[in-house]
Amino acid sequence: MNAIVDDNAVTQLELQVRQIRMEANGINSYEFVSPDGASLPPFTAGAHIDVHAGPGIVRQYSLCNSPAERDRYVIAVLKDPNGRGGSAAVHENIKVGDRVRISAPRNNFELRPCKGKVVLLAGGIGVTPMKAMAHQLESENIPYEMYYCAKGPDYAAFRPELEALAKSGKVNFHFDHGDPKNSLDITTVLKHPEGECELYYCGPGGFMEACKVASEHWPSGSVHFEHFKAPVKQADADASVAGAFIAEIASSGERLEVAPDQNLAEVLQAAGYPVETSCLSGLCGTCKVRYLAGEVDHQDFILDDEEKAEYLTVCVSRPASKTLLLDL
Ligand code: FES
Repeated sequence: MNAIVDDNAVTQLELQVRQIRMEANGINSYEFVSPDGASLPPFTAGAHIDVHAGPGIVRQYSLCNSPAERDRYVIAVLKDPNGRGGSAAVHENIKVGDRVRISAPRNNFELRPCKGKVVLLAGGIGVTPMKAMAHQLESENIPYEMYYCAKGPDYAAFRPELEALAKSGKVNFHFDHGDPKNSLDITTVLKHPEGECELYYCGPGGFMEACKVASEHWPSGSVHFEHFKAPVKQADADASVAGAFIAEIASSGERLEVAPDQNLAEVLQAAGYPVETSCLSGLCGTCKVRYLAGEVDHQDFILDDEEKAEYLTVCVSRPASKTLLLDL
C-alpha cells in the first residue's frame, strides 16, 4: 500500500475499489481495500476520509463500516444533482478495480465515554457515521438506541444490516413517505434525557435544526452533531466576517497579517505552520487551533460551546478582535 504525507501533514493512501453496491435509491456504497492486502490504518466511529474523486475534486465522507474491520473502509454516497459536483463525480468516475487516492481517517465526531444510554439520530445519508457508531457500541456492549429517518424503505441505505439490529429493538426506522407531516416526532424522542446519556445526530438541514431545538434542554456537553453540508446561512455569514487582523503565534511571537480576502488557514500554512485542512467549510473540525487570547467570530458547524471557548476552525472563523493569539 502506498502511503505518503502531503504538504498539510495528512497521510494519503492509494486504495483499490473492491466493491460498489447500490444501497438505496441514489445511494451507492464504496469499499476500499489495500491493493496488497495490508491492514489499513485504524479508525474509530465517526471518522471520515477525504476521497479524491477527480481532478481538483476532494470530498469528505464518513466511514460507515465497523471500526473493528481492519481490511476495508466503506463509505456511502448519495448522488446530489443540486450539489457542487462531488457526489456526482464519485458516482460517475469511480469504478470497481480503480485505484483511488484517499486520506487516512480523521475523527472530529468521536463517541465520548458514556455511563448511560447513547441516542443516535440519523436523517437520510446522515446514517453513515451513525451506522459506524452502532457497530462500535455493539462491540463495546454499550446501551444505545438509534432512529433512522428516510423517505421510505427504498431510500434507506444498509437496511439488511440495520434490520438485524432493529429486531433487537435497538434500531428504529421511520419513513415519512415524502410528507413532512409524517416526520419523526423528535421532540418526543428527546424529551426526557435519561441519566448520563449522550446524543449524536447527523442529517440534512431541516433535520439538524429539529434535533438542535429538541435537545436544547439536554445537559451541556451531552449533545454532538455533524453536518454533512454547510447550512445555507453560511453564505451570509461569510459576507459579514471581519476585515484584516493579526494572528500572533505564541511559541515564536511571530505576527502574521491576514487580509480581508484571506482565511487564517492558508496564511498559517503559507508561513509553514502544520495546520491540516479538509472540508474548508467549517464542517469537519480538522483545522481547529487553540487560541489563548482574543475574541472569535465562530463560523463553523462542528464545535460545541465548550470547544468554542478554546478553539477556532481556522478555515472559516476569524477573530472579532484585531489580534488573535494562537497556541502554535
Ligand atoms: S477544514 Fe474542515 S472545519 Fe476547517
